[in-house]
Amino acid sequence: MSKNNLTEDKEDKGFSRRDFIKNISMGTAGAIAMATLAKTDKLHANEQTKRIDEPKNQPLKIEDVLKKARERLYPKCRVCHECDGVACAGEVPGMGGIGSGQSFKNNFIALQKIQLNMRTFHDVKKVNTSITLWGEKLSLPVLAAPTGGTTYNMGLKGKMTDDEYIDAILGGCIMAGTIGFAADGIGDPIEVFEIRLKAVKKYNGKAIVTIKPRTQDEIIKRIKMIEQAGALAFAIDIDSAGRAARALPGQTVEPKTPKQLKEIARSTKLPFIIKGIMTIEEAEMAIDSGAAAIVVSNHGGRVLDYTPGVAEVLPKIADKVKGKTIIFADGAIKYGTDVLKMLALGADAVLSGRHLLRGAVGGDKEGVALMINKMKSELIDSMVLTGTSDVKKVNRKIIV
Ligand SMILES: Cc1cc2nc3c(=O)[nH]c(=O)nc-3n(C[C@H](O)[C@H](O)[C@H](O)COP(=O)(O)O)c2cc1C
Repeated sequence: MSKNNLTEDKEDKGFSRRDFIKNISMGTAGAIAMATLAKTDKLHANEQTKRIDEPKNQPLKIEDVLKKARERLYPKCRVCHECDGVACAGEVPGMGGIGSGQSFKNNFIALQKIQLNMRTFHDVKKVNTSITLWGEKLSLPVLAAPTGGTTYNMGLKGKMTDDEYIDAILGGCIMAGTIGFAADGIGDPIEVFEIRLKAVKKYNGKAIVTIKPRTQDEIIKRIKMIEQAGALAFAIDIDSAGRAARALPGQTVEPKTPKQLKEIARSTKLPFIIKGIMTIEEAEMAIDSGAAAIVVSNHGGRVLDYTPGVAEVLPKIADKVKGKTIIFADGAIKYGTDVLKMLALGADAVLSGRHLLRGAVGGDKEGVALMINKMKSELIDSMVLTGTSDVKKVNRKIIV
């Protein structure tokens, strides 16, 4: 409310100054002088317009990014104030959760239920938000989640190309000192995968590339391409296996046996991330199969209806496997406090999907960086207010 008022005030001021200039010229000019003054007026007005409208001179504002994102993404995404899975329930393909949308809603609800203990009797004034991931220093433990399907999920045909989208995601993350995941959309042909790898190369491999749980041959073929692009690591979103029974020709996805996962891990020196772990048993099996990291995730509630929220299962999984593998978690992460909560529940770092997707669509790289930097400043504040000095040492006691 107050933010909007501030914006309106500024705009009003801008317009009234322009009117002021115009009024002076009208009031003091004679017939001949009018022409000269009109010229001056135009000049002033141009200057004024330049000052008001020149985007490069203006700091990008979150509300403008969200407004543009809404214009471009509607009706696939309404860009609701809180992304809770209600308005878009059942919209897959699209931006929602599958079926009743309950799994998506559960991610939001589970995270919302976690409350923080405020602690201010300490000397934590400076905090460390950085982590190192396979030799790469990140300014905060937040990465962009893989989000594919610019046309069939996001409805961006004619508005934003795959090229522009992945550039915004990966480039925006780098601007904010972190890295992003590139997706492998289920309906995307290999050419789209190649477009994403081009962006990975452009950013000197500072990215993680995801592969759908395709046939073994198709996965290994893509791993070789990822190696050539120089990516930091690769992931398989194993939870996309649900379409095994109705796969399109050339787009086969399948559940994987531990033996198949081992074969994939052994085929490369790249760190292997298994995305889509929701049980202790599969977290342990992933580690046995050679996973360097797991992503505790239900794919944003997009693959199986009625799964619990990630924040609900994460602590049980972390209690068993923390320290044995890197634990990422995702699901409804938007605020710095969401990041801190997931870290307290046992994650080493988090992924943010829909929120950064909106940043990319509404503000390109700058939009993504803006969202991440806002999360970072919220994270810093919440660390001070919970007495947390380092993101690598978040105590579960900060949770109520
Ligand atoms: C439009 C859209 C497309 C997605 N595409 C992929 C994908 O291709 N591969 C993947 O592993 N996850 C994909 N995901 C899931 C995200 O990576 C992430 O797990 C999920 O969205 C949870 O994060 P969020 O709640 O912050 O969006 C997609 C999610 C959305 C919303």
